[in-house]
Amino acid sequence: MVVKIWRVNPEAPERDAIEEAAAIIVAGGLVAFPTETVYGLGANAFNEEAVRKIFAAKERPAWDPLIVHISHPDMVKDLAAVVPETFWRLAERLMPGPLTVVLPKRPKVPDAVTAGLPTVAIRMPKHPVALALIEAAGVPIAAPSANRFGRPSPTRAEHVLADLGDRIDGILDAGPTRVGVESTVVDLTATPPTILRPGGVSRETLAEILGEVAIAETPKREGEPMPSPGMTHRHYAPAVPLRLTEPSPQAVQDALLRFLAEHPQGKVGLLLPTDWREWVTPSERVVIFDWGEWGDWATMARRLFEGLRWLERQGVVAIFAPLPPPIGLGLALRDRLIKASGSDEIAR
Ligand code: TXA
Ligand code: MG
Repeated sequence: MVVKIWRVNPEAPERDAIEEAAAIIVAGGLVAFPTETVYGLGANAFNEEAVRKIFAAKERPAWDPLIVHISHPDMVKDLAAVVPETFWRLAERLMPGPLTVVLPKRPKVPDAVTAGLPTVAIRMPKHPVALALIEAAGVPIAAPSANRFGRPSPTRAEHVLADLGDRIDGILDAGPTRVGVESTVVDLTATPPTILRPGGVSRETLAEILGEVAIAETPKREGEPMPSPGMTHRHYAPAVPLRLTEPSPQAVQDALLRFLAEHPQGKVGLLLPTDWREWVTPSERVVIFDWGEWGDWATMARRLFEGLRWLERQGVVAIFAPLPPPIGLGLALRDRLIKASGSDEIAR
């Protein structure tokens, strides 16, 4: 199967491309589309069979529920059995935006979407292409990130093509995504509201709007119950080991030199802050991806998955990255890096 690719204007997508893609969704097919966070793999949320195709294409386990994408906050009423006042407060300030809310589901939302949970995750993406697609399809669109299960999320159409090109019907290509990490998932059925996955909206911003906000702990050991099914241990992972270091240029340099001495063969990749470059001794065995200025968490978030995928394509045997502090988008960066490395162990 040769996948159909529509190159569209990210600000004002071409009408005929959107109509064609929407027709595929309505007919029960799968279309990948850009959001402001990462590319999603979409199907009609009310079509159980189409939703099952998403799980097959991604090789995603059936216990990991999907986010349902809407094009207007009012569409929540069609999906959620109860809509608390907190939803409308968040909608006013943050929708569209990189935020997903978990609410009690209506019976008409298929179990395949929610993995049998009594709740449904809902989000209104801030991207003209995503909104136009949902509008044209006339149905909410269930969509996980458009990567094979466990791989880094796709921030470009090329990433979707590499992971899923032979398994889906089409890709709306609007260039690289702006935020680069996925939406923040917040459970509004919990008291206080609880962040299940840190993401594009910071905890600080949510706390401004909601008051007290809790953060769900990722269980330390494999096999312990998860607050959100998708919080598996190794996730977002490149094909080669990722090692985390303390957040200083000296720590990166030390860990790198030790690794090179202990492994006489192969190249090493670095996700390296722009302003730390002079600290690292140049070597033919070191491949550097420019991550953006340390402290510019928004730029580092935008480049994170791109960097992991790019470094793995350079044929490195390991990737090193310093672990940002849990401030603003730094919280989401930490979460993705720890999951991509498989543990919060620090290399020295
Ligand atoms: O930015 C994003 O959120 C992207 C774009 C495409 O919208 N989507 C995305 O979807 O990241 P996915 O499937 O890769 O991650 C969805 C997360 C998973 O961790 C899943 O377990 C959680 O949301 N989730 C979905 N429904 C849930 C529910 N009812 N209760 C708790 N967690 C839920
Ligand atoms: Mg995902």
